Amino acid sequence: MSIKKISFIPICAGLLFFVSCNQVSKTDVTLKDYGAESTVLNIEAYTLTNSHFRTALWTGTKLQATVMTIPVGGDVGLEKHPDTDQFLRIEEGKAEVVMGDTEQSLTFVKTAEKDFAIFVPAGKWHNIINTGDKPLKLYSIYSPVEHPHSTVHLTQEEAEEAEHQFFTTNYFHMNIDLIQLPYATNALEPAISKQTIEFHYGKHLQGYVNNLSNLLKGTELENANLETIVKQSDGAVFNNAGQILNHNLYFLQFSPKGGGKPSGRLAQAIDAAWGTFENFQKEFETAGAGLFGSGWVWLAADKNGKLSITKELNAGNPITKGLKPLLTFDVWEHAYYLDYQNRRADHLKSLWAIVDWKTVESRY
Ligand SMILES: [Fe+2]
Repeated sequence: MSIKKISFIPICAGLLFFVSCNQVSKTDVTLKDYGAESTVLNIEAYTLTNSHFRTALWTGTKLQATVMTIPVGGDVGLEKHPDTDQFLRIEEGKAEVVMGDTEQSLTFVKTAEKDFAIFVPAGKWHNIINTGDKPLKLYSIYSPVEHPHSTVHLTQEEAEEAEHQFFTTNYFHMNIDLIQLPYATNALEPAISKQTIEFHYGKHLQGYVNNLSNLLKGTELENANLETIVKQSDGAVFNNAGQILNHNLYFLQFSPKGGGKPSGRLAQAIDAAWGTFENFQKEFETAGAGLFGSGWVWLAADKNGKLSITKELNAGNPITKGLKPLLTFDVWEHAYYLDYQNRRADHLKSLWAIVDWKTVESRY
């Protein structure tokens, strides 16, 4: 988490006796994501203190607030949010606000400056351009949440790069913290026993989280999200980060109400690649059973949505090959030995009963 703490002393311009300044005389500004906690803060002070392109300030379950700084001549970026209305308020600087129904017809053009509010309806293309001679400082509030908790984008380029990551929008747990399981430890029985979950999640995954937390202290990846760490690291950092990402995807894809078959686009893509869902299952199981040593078998998609089954040793994840991971079975012995001993193939077959295809489809 990026934390910036400074004391903010507002400067009230104008005649000393006639200008009322509605800020407290001194505000401690600790720039960080306050999460879904009860929070009261002086948002003007926080907005003026922020010097990053974007810093998440408050991330709830349904609403998010970010503070932004747009350099002179820069812009927020032309974009459209299909389902998200957006509120923004400028605290410093001068801007041109453009909106329209298509990227080419931005017919709505207004100037805005300090204290102006901007309302962007869902589905409108929009951009905010800094036309002034100092950084444009603004904050933005919208629902649903769009960026992971604790998001910090130092620059617009970094923000655009993040848009191309696989997990920024749907996986808010993809920081390095231990995920919460969305089911009880005994809920996946008989496919996975309570005891296996307690060791696998409570000891093994917790161990990777502890290791990574220690390894990252004071390094440049300390505030990065899990996907970035996996893509940019090697050695012990990669092994622990990869294992956290893999296990997060693994544990979050199961449900006691799982089983059945995928539907929609994913089902069509599986049929296109393997003929039938049953053929896919057979090949997936064979790949997992045949992986020598410890590792993971994956269903992954390329940029065009074409599916493949990949085998990865140890902490490997197909994102390092530019593929999007959708479904994974853990074939490390710690995943099944208490329940199935050496019968890895039987264990893999049992997992189909708990796969939550809605979750897997959402990754596609
Ligand atoms: Fe595991």
